[in-house]
Amino acid sequence: MAKAKTENKTEKKTEKKTKTKAAPKTKKPKEPKEVIEAKVTEAETAAVTEEHAVPETVAPQPRRSIAFIGSECYPFVKTGGLGDVMYALPKALAELNCDVKVILPRYHCIPAQYQEKMVYRGSFDMDLCEDGKSFYVGIMEYVWDGVVYDFIDNDEFFTGGNPYTNLVDDIPKYCYFCKAALAALNYMDWIPDVIHCHDWQASLVPVFLRTQFADTAIKDSKTVLTIHNLRFQGVYNIPTIRYWTNLPDYVFNKDVFKTGYEDANMLKAGLTYTDIITTVSNTYADEIETPDYGENLDAHLRYHGGKLRGIVNGIDVVQWDPKADTRLAAPYDITDVLDRKKENKKALQEELGLEVDEGKFVIGLISRLTDQKGLDLVNEILPSLVDGNTQIVVLGTGDIRYEESFRGFESGFKGSVCSCIMYDEGRAHRIYAGADALLVPSLFEPCGLTQLIAMRYGTVPVVRETGGLKDTVEPYNQFTHEGNGFTFDRYEAGLLYDAVNRAKTLYFTDRWHWDEMVQRDMAKDVSWKTSAEQYRALYLELKP
Ligand code: ADP
Ligand code: GLC
Repeated sequence: MAKAKTENKTEKKTEKKTKTKAAPKTKKPKEPKEVIEAKVTEAETAAVTEEHAVPETVAPQPRRSIAFIGSECYPFVKTGGLGDVMYALPKALAELNCDVKVILPRYHCIPAQYQEKMVYRGSFDMDLCEDGKSFYVGIMEYVWDGVVYDFIDNDEFFTGGNPYTNLVDDIPKYCYFCKAALAALNYMDWIPDVIHCHDWQASLVPVFLRTQFADTAIKDSKTVLTIHNLRFQGVYNIPTIRYWTNLPDYVFNKDVFKTGYEDANMLKAGLTYTDIITTVSNTYADEIETPDYGENLDAHLRYHGGKLRGIVNGIDVVQWDPKADTRLAAPYDITDVLDRKKENKKALQEELGLEVDEGKFVIGLISRLTDQKGLDLVNEILPSLVDGNTQIVVLGTGDIRYEESFRGFESGFKGSVCSCIMYDEGRAHRIYAGADALLVPSLFEPCGLTQLIAMRYGTVPVVRETGGLKDTVEPYNQFTHEGNGFTFDRYEAGLLYDAVNRAKTLYFTDRWHWDEMVQRDMAKDVSWKTSAEQYRALYLELKP
């Protein structure tokens, strides 16, 4: 049943693809504007080209060049899944013979070990504001694993300890960043086939490209804008965004920026101007065209539906490899997971001050603590889950009310519940390895990576059937014993409770089939391979 539904969705997306080609809806006003072009020396260009060289023997042809533009990227700066994707997808594309450059802000919070390795590639001044105010743009480069990272350097915008602070600061920061990224590509004379932008922070790139950059070297590049999370759109009043972009009046209308009576929406404008919109799962691509999930942009997305696709995320299976994971007490693979997991569980219980007992059912939750992640459901059922056989480990930061409620549970259920209110990569790895199940009961979930990482580590996901969770976790069938995890559909605490209890029942009463599922999860392909090929095909479609 569920399978048939997915197939229908695939067909629907294919239909949309055909529609795009026949009737492109995007208007592309051509306004000759300031030219932001400066050239690097031939020596610099040659150096860049050489660094990009990939052995031709294994390379699918033709080679395409892609500039990734986004606001975070592991290991430099990461607050969630966007950071993982900005690291892993370029790497996977480089392996498919794509020439990839990743353009990021050079935040002060990037660890010194990376800052020290960056090489100065050049700098220039760039006009930005309505009143002609211009800003310094520095380019610092770091090459790693076949991918070139270019960091946009500017002390005025990127000084915060966290990439995101508040909209008052973030709006100017990302207006500047989008324009600086395009100007930097022109400056380096590196004109990509496709510019792939991510989320609202990079969404002005297609708008600048088709207006202020319409007569510059980069004008023929195509654009893809990926929505990782529609909840965040970069909305602020029109005068402020007009000031910080100096974009022409005609873009501040209802078809491009304008939203409500007086606000401008940066993501909406990017969606209008980009050649292709993607999001990170097929189900989410369908969901965001509905009022329930559309975050007030559903009508706009339906209008541009002909250029909207879903491509599901993967994970980097080298970064997330339980066999080679130096952070684990007992690294393992599919052949010894059943024994090693017990050792990792005991090590985790010791680390977190939980009762050390390999017989307990350990449930992990690794998440930003926000409404998106279904934490009100978890709060409602947590006291009934703690029954003497079950332990719960939470790792996350976010909204104060969730941080406090989880701290409260820890002190109320000492030895059975541990709430780590912190961001800690190492601990995340150890929870993925030591837990038996991982909860992801999200209200909405564009894709979700934690359920993919969990499966890779032989940890059974318990998820709500929404977005990418629905597309990546096949529900366990108690009759055929197939499936990868436990799922529930409506957003109700009772249904989450029921799903966790189904998991516990299998674990405690039918360990044989539980263990089979653990091994099946580890064998599942959660890598980027298939999805990176789909992105590559998309780039080729844009630039045949
Ligand atoms: P989102 O991007 O919505 O936060 P994803 O599931 O796509 O959710 O990605 C979350 C990523 O962030 C995963 O790599 C997860 O392991 C990581 N993560 C989330 N919270 C923490 C934390 N407190 N400490 C360490 N890693 C975390
Ligand atoms: C967003 C989404 C998450 C997705 C991630 C990477 O943060 O909330 O579902 O996995 O982006 O695409």
